[in-house]
Amino acid sequence: MSTRGNFSGRIGFILTAAGSAVGLGNIWKFPYLAGQNGGAVFLFIYLICVFLLCYPVMVGEISIGRRAGLDAYGSYTKLGGKRWGLLGLFGIMVGIFILSFYNVVAGWAFGYFLHISFGDLLNQTDFSSFFGLFVNDLLDLSSAEGLANSNFIFSMVFMAMTAFIVARGIQSGIEASNKIMMPILYLILIGIIIYALTLPNAMSGVKFYLIPDFAELKIQTLFEGLKQAFFSLSLGMGTLMTYGSYLKKTENIPSSVAVISAADTSVAFLAGLMIFPLVHFLQFKLQVTEVATAGPPLIFIVLPQIFHEMGPLLGRIVGGLFFLLVCFAALTSTISLLEVPVAYLVDQKKMSRKKVSWGIALLIFILGLPIMASQGMIPALNKLAFYKDQDYLVFVADMCDISLTVGGCLMCIFITRRWKIHNMHEELEIGNPGYKNSFLKKYLSFTIQYVCPVLLGFLSILIIIDKFFGIDRIFN
Ligand code: TRP
Repeated sequence: MSTRGNFSGRIGFILTAAGSAVGLGNIWKFPYLAGQNGGAVFLFIYLICVFLLCYPVMVGEISIGRRAGLDAYGSYTKLGGKRWGLLGLFGIMVGIFILSFYNVVAGWAFGYFLHISFGDLLNQTDFSSFFGLFVNDLLDLSSAEGLANSNFIFSMVFMAMTAFIVARGIQSGIEASNKIMMPILYLILIGIIIYALTLPNAMSGVKFYLIPDFAELKIQTLFEGLKQAFFSLSLGMGTLMTYGSYLKKTENIPSSVAVISAADTSVAFLAGLMIFPLVHFLQFKLQVTEVATAGPPLIFIVLPQIFHEMGPLLGRIVGGLFFLLVCFAALTSTISLLEVPVAYLVDQKKMSRKKVSWGIALLIFILGLPIMASQGMIPALNKLAFYKDQDYLVFVADMCDISLTVGGCLMCIFITRRWKIHNMHEELEIGNPGYKNSFLKKYLSFTIQYVCPVLLGFLSILIIIDKFFGIDRIFN
């Protein structure tokens, strides 16, 4: 087993798992979801999902991985037989699809980082049309500048960085890179928040973010909160199972999971505290009562405009640091996603880590091409007729979201019916003598056997109905 590699210890594992969790989901998605769904109301629902559903699922996932000491497919097969192995394979596939679109968005952030820090992106006047052109500029080789602009190159480089780190193995690649990037990420985040809070009108942004608006509370708020919590904590497809398989037996799983979820949730919360004061600063500058913050373009359209308003030097520094932060967050997540299929091939097919890392990265990059092209270049992919005219990126992302809650539900069923909960408890007692008679043990028994499978199953079905048919249409 020693040839598989392992984490050096508690800090390394926690930082790396938190690195997986903290990503575009926290910095790009959480703030705009909170903004759209009633601010603190959303935060509250999100926290309930984390405590009630995500915490037990994460403990379960890591225990399975550590007990089996194998990749996602191998773990399910070893503890539950070949049929349950299919659930592992499903997770691996979902991971591949997540990475295929995630890497495209990460590539945009990487491009923005380079263009703001070293180019003249902030001299634009219309950031909205710039973004439109940017995401469509796949491979414009007609000029030297075109090449540097190309999205195709940015996501290729991002995927190459991911493959490079994963190829180096657990301790000297994955753990080492997380130990560098995660602390820097926190420092930049705190630094920008402090600066943002000193800007004119910052407090109005804080209020908007933190004062609950119950009028926005809908059943969809719950769906969004649940999906976001699963995605943000990297649950439901085997990432943490795979990381768990590299965890030493002496480590205390429940307390590590508490730290990982707290780290992830705090970054999501802080990202909002960074972004909304900036947005309200822009409203003040432009003397408008509202700028369109809705949706994905928030960090690519509204924020660059804000950096522009800060003036050439300050804008370059703050904007550059912001996108560096996004890149670090994304890279620690893409690494964890690539590790899942890589571990599978290394463990099951005994292939070389190096070759497999680069090979799968290439495959995933190719899967990302239609995603890049769906941003306008290929009209059919830009408006999917069967999917309410949304684009292919949104479609893939939605399907992955659903697969995560379904995967989490099936994992709880696996623990309850096949592996048996007492085996999980046994695994959790290792490195944790107080666990045997703890309240936590009862809480986990109750949630994993009853609350999680029932609620996750029920909500997954509602989410699917809502996605394809619209739940309001059915109940009204
Ligand atoms: N959690 C990461 C984010 O918030 C993305 C991520 C990494 C992920 N690994 C995952 C999502 C596994 C789902 C499953 O950006």
